[in-house]
Amino acid sequence: MLPEISRSMLKNSLVLGLFAVATVGVVSLIQQSTAARIERSAHEAQIRVLGEILPAGSYDNHLLDNSIELHDPLLGSKAPQPAYIALKEGKPTAIILQATAPDGYSGAIRLLVGIQADGRLAGVRVLSHRETPGLGDRIELAKSPWMHGFEGKSLTNPGEAGWAVKKDRGEFDQFAGATITPRAVVKAVHKALQFFDAHKAELFAEVNPNG
Ligand SMILES: Cc1cc2nc3c(=O)[nH]c(=O)nc-3n(C[C@H](O)[C@H](O)[C@H](O)COP(=O)(O)O)c2cc1C
Repeated sequence: MLPEISRSMLKNSLVLGLFAVATVGVVSLIQQSTAARIERSAHEAQIRVLGEILPAGSYDNHLLDNSIELHDPLLGSKAPQPAYIALKEGKPTAIILQATAPDGYSGAIRLLVGIQADGRLAGVRVLSHRETPGLGDRIELAKSPWMHGFEGKSLTNPGEAGWAVKKDRGEFDQFAGATITPRAVVKAVHKALQFFDAHKAELFAEVNPNG
């Protein structure tokens, strides 16, 4: 027979133990459902951004189903980055490359660069950056239309020298008081075009027409 005090300690420990197990269970359930919700909304945001880059009606596949991993110094990152191939009736019409400008004012700027099969830029969007609000953040379309300046440009339009900001005698505007950010983005987009030019045939050969 246990003394009264030991029985009470045992009972309290059991209650505490059960409470701890139940709390861990509830927290892990909440965590799982939150993680699934975050993943779902990140997925939806990704589809939305990808869809904004290419002209409506220019493809009929699910871009996320035709993604490949690319790894090349011209894309600006040591890690593999995804690319998405747009198809219309099974034929490649465009590609969206993820590219990184490593030399932003505050570090890497991650971009999506949409290139049509004929080599013209469909559009460029920023995925992430840490540039200064009011200065470098004008690369965001929500802050300024600057990114639209790439649309229709290609490796030959403008030519090599034109692929720079005006301060460096190129064709692209810099921002007032902020040249470093647009300089980095122009350079990264130019390199992405060079990558596409060098690898177009292989990239489009990787197509899954059922995607
Ligand atoms: C606090 C602070 C934040 C800045 N942030 C940026 C930025 O995000 N992007 C940028 O291009 N320049 C930024 N600048 C300005 C740059 O230091 C630089 O003066 C400007 O980009 C012009 O570069 P340039 O001399 O190569 O033309 C910042 C300057 C300061 C003092």
